[in-house]
Amino acid sequence: MIDATPRRLWLEHGYVDGEDTRHFTFRLDAPHAGDGAVRPGQFFMLCVPGVGEAPFTYVRPPDPDGRFSALVRRMGRVTDALLACAPGALLGYRGPFGHGWPHDLPAGGRVLAVAGGCGLAPLASMIEDACAPDAPWRLTLLYGARHAAAQVLGRERARWRKLLPLFESFDQPPPGQRPGTPLDQLDRVFAAGGVDALLCCGPEPLMLASARECLRRGLPAERIWLSLERRMHCADGLCGHCYLGASYVCRDGPTYRYDHYLRLLRGSGADALPAAPGYC
Ligand SMILES: Cc1cc2nc3c(=O)[nH]c(=O)nc-3n(C[C@H](O)[C@H](O)[C@H](O)COP(=O)(O)OP(=O)(O)OC[C@H]3O[C@@H](n4cnc5c(N)ncnc54)[C@H](O)[C@@H]3O)c2cc1C
Ligand code: FES
Repeated sequence: MIDATPRRLWLEHGYVDGEDTRHFTFRLDAPHAGDGAVRPGQFFMLCVPGVGEAPFTYVRPPDPDGRFSALVRRMGRVTDALLACAPGALLGYRGPFGHGWPHDLPAGGRVLAVAGGCGLAPLASMIEDACAPDAPWRLTLLYGARHAAAQVLGRERARWRKLLPLFESFDQPPPGQRPGTPLDQLDRVFAAGGVDALLCCGPEPLMLASARECLRRGLPAERIWLSLERRMHCADGLCGHCYLGASYVCRDGPTYRYDHYLRLLRGSGADALPAAPGYC
């Protein structure tokens, strides 16, 4: 069992990165050699002393000095308090938790990432990997937001746009553009060579529609992954706050293969999950 005592974490700096959202750099007070062993899509618990604790995704995993970054969007008590913190604030950290994206995607394959709003954050490390000169697979990103101000990771997107196909859509677009959703691009992406794996993160209706539409175009459910969001307290499979059927999203997720997710929804037992992480 993971030690539930938060470790000391410094807030180094932050900048506005979308409506009601800040992109923070944090630094662990006494980094351990293993702190950088974070899988893309895993999460950590951030504690604001005297206020509470909440889960967040790593945008950049910890470096050898214990520095990492994360996006925080205002929702309520904890996130209000975080957005009010000044550089130098002392916070608490627990993690990493959960299983991230699969690590055995087909080499040289075509990966489609679909993100909505803040759901771009858990995909950031996978997108960075795909931008590397020796990228293990080719990635296309479809990113939807309510409107331009709600988009996040502005600096990263400016770079990604030059390195991989990135299509952005808006429910309420800027003047001169048509409203749309990430799904509008699916025909184009499938026609341009197909898709070997789908990774989705964002509002659940967007993820489920993306999964269904890709299934309809021939992508098997075993090649589709969703990253789920649930209310969390312990983050370690103890309190039961985040259950999904026979599974706990904090421990068995937040990333689920689509066929496993459907079996959990239908009430199958824990056998719906693979025995070991990896999910392939
Ligand atoms: C695995 C995981 C990764 C996450 N990563 C990020 C991230 O990178 N950046 C980010 O900004 N947020 C992220 N979140 C969401 C973030 O944890 C919540 O916004 C935060 O817990 C809200 O806490 P709060 O005290 O500010 O709000 P509260 O005061 O607890 O809640 C305010 C309102 O939001 C609702 N709410 C709060 N949390 C959730 C939730 N998880 N699901 C549905 N409704 C909720 C409450 O019911 C209430 O109506 C993540 C959540 C999970 C589970
Ligand atoms: S948050 Fe406690 S079981 Fe998942």
